[in-house]
Amino acid sequence: MKQRIRNLCVVLLVLSMLFALAGCGSAGSGDVAPADNAQQSSEQQTQEQAEQPSSDETGDSNALVVYFSRTGEQYTVGVIEKGNTAIVAEMIAEETGADLFELLPADDHYPMTYDELTDVAKQEQNENARPAYAGEVPDLSQYDTIFIGAPVWWGDWPMIMYTFFEENADALSGKTLVPFSTHEGSGLSGFDEKLSDACPGSTVLEGLAIRGNDAQNAQDDVRSEVNGWISGLGL
Ligand SMILES: Cc1cc2nc3c(=O)[nH]c(=O)nc-3n(C[C@H](O)[C@H](O)[C@H](O)COP(=O)(O)O)c2cc1C
Repeated sequence: MKQRIRNLCVVLLVLSMLFALAGCGSAGSGDVAPADNAQQSSEQQTQEQAEQPSSDETGDSNALVVYFSRTGEQYTVGVIEKGNTAIVAEMIAEETGADLFELLPADDHYPMTYDELTDVAKQEQNENARPAYAGEVPDLSQYDTIFIGAPVWWGDWPMIMYTFFEENADALSGKTLVPFSTHEGSGLSGFDEKLSDACPGSTVLEGLAIRGNDAQNAQDDVRSEVNGWISGLGL
């Protein structure tokens, strides 16, 4: 009888040790699991973040590039298919993720030959004309920063740009405006001050002047200059 009781005790002891070991095992794996989960979820998060579209891809940039530019015959570059200012405008948009809006004349009265174009432009300047532009300006309230570019015409903004400044004066007030020009020797031609005068209530940042010929023929250099200028603006 005593022997039986002893055997029973031994069995119970072995069973209780087995239970204890099983318990330890499950506690051990329980300790590891959350760490694994944490690692897994942080890896998952990094991957999810990497998969998030950037603001450029979603098109929700808060910058806009408004520009005027001419194709046809232009000074020193012959007949061009994309305007000098358009090339720079696109570089700015690529670098900043900004939207683009091209100001086009309502009735395209601008000649495609250089000499004739200079005559028409001079006449508009003499008359302080306000040529109409076509199309609808994007809702400017959704943009904080607006890059504004044009070729220098007779040492000034083309008159159509003044039409844009005046017709959108209220919407441009309070914005950060960044002028740029293309030219063949006159540089920025006071685009910044003239923009400030035409758009009171806005903040005008340092402008950029690019030679039209470089925009056509030295695009790597121009792109570096554009990108360096943008990073220096502190936007
Ligand atoms: C009507 C007209 C007037 C111009 N006046 C000047 C000027 O005063 N100073 C200057 O450096 N370039 C002047 N240019 C040259 C243009 O500014 C230059 O070719 C510019 O890059 C053209 O840009 P776009 O192709 O975007 O129109 C003039 C060109 C035209 C057509």
